[in-house]
Amino acid sequence: MHRVTKAVLPAAGLGTRFLPATKALPKEMLPVVDRPAIQYVVTEAVEAGLHDVLMVTGRNKNALENHFDRATELEATLIAKGDVDRLAEVRQSTGLAQMHYVRQGDPLGLGHAVLRARSHVGGQSFAVLLGDDIIDAATPLLQRMLEVHAIHGMSVVALMEVEPDQAHRYGVATVEATDAEDVVRVRGLVEKPAPGTAPSNLAVIGRYVLRPEIFDVLEDTQPGVGGEIQLTDALRVAAADEAHGLLGVVFRGRRFDTGDRQGLLEATVTLASEREDLGAEFRAWLRAFVATLDDRP
Ligand code: UTP
Repeated sequence: MHRVTKAVLPAAGLGTRFLPATKALPKEMLPVVDRPAIQYVVTEAVEAGLHDVLMVTGRNKNALENHFDRATELEATLIAKGDVDRLAEVRQSTGLAQMHYVRQGDPLGLGHAVLRARSHVGGQSFAVLLGDDIIDAATPLLQRMLEVHAIHGMSVVALMEVEPDQAHRYGVATVEATDAEDVVRVRGLVEKPAPGTAPSNLAVIGRYVLRPEIFDVLEDTQPGVGGEIQLTDALRVAAADEAHGLLGVVFRGRRFDTGDRQGLLEATVTLASEREDLGAEFRAWLRAFVATLDDRP
């Protein structure tokens, strides 16, 4: 009954924090080392067993669709050159998942983007993965959330401890402990609390497993913070409804917020230094570079 097979990836935001790079390119297509951020996220969904991926796109959607489609001319050129490694890289994103697309039209908020998935998802629970959060593959957060959903049947959000001075950037949860050490019952949620007013240090990060009733709640959700239809506002209603209910899985692994310049830089440097093909040379350069920074503030 609680089997989840579909992943929804909202990628229709304006990405204003990356302008001008995002003037003609969705921020989800910005590269982390040599693959677009969104490819890490589609890979994560597939590794969690979700092979049906619906991407919610906005303006500049072509770059996203093309990335997961065949690139016949490029492939032919690589075949002619005998460049089998790059050919495999190009083909990897094509065969990854069954990709589907829906347009958001106006970017009226994350809640509005999720609502656009309604007819594709139907009456089943589904996962939502934000393209600007990269979760370290070593800590399979989504698998754990799907497991918790299968056991309890409630919607599940991912929570992560953040520094108090960062809480205003997130949705923040009021929680109660459960029998499982990494699972909490969410009793309240507030989107981007004013500094000093956050109810806890547990912030919602970009992974969700949602019951289909969330669509009815979203239909009735009015614009909230920033004039946008906020997913957090709908989740607060779910949390207060005993029949629906909301759980949180507390994530203690590594996560990169690639929707932010600092986060994208940190992801690029960290993942490049860990890559088998690049790491040794890059780490050597990085050490030498860091040594030159010593006397700068
Ligand atoms: P953000 O809150 O990071 O907004 O969206 P944004 O517009 O993409 O970026 P900034 O703040 O202007 O720099 C979180 C996620 O929700 C998606 C985004 O694509 C991102 O994956 N989103 C947001 C939508 O799909 N539609 C929206 O209307 C808003």
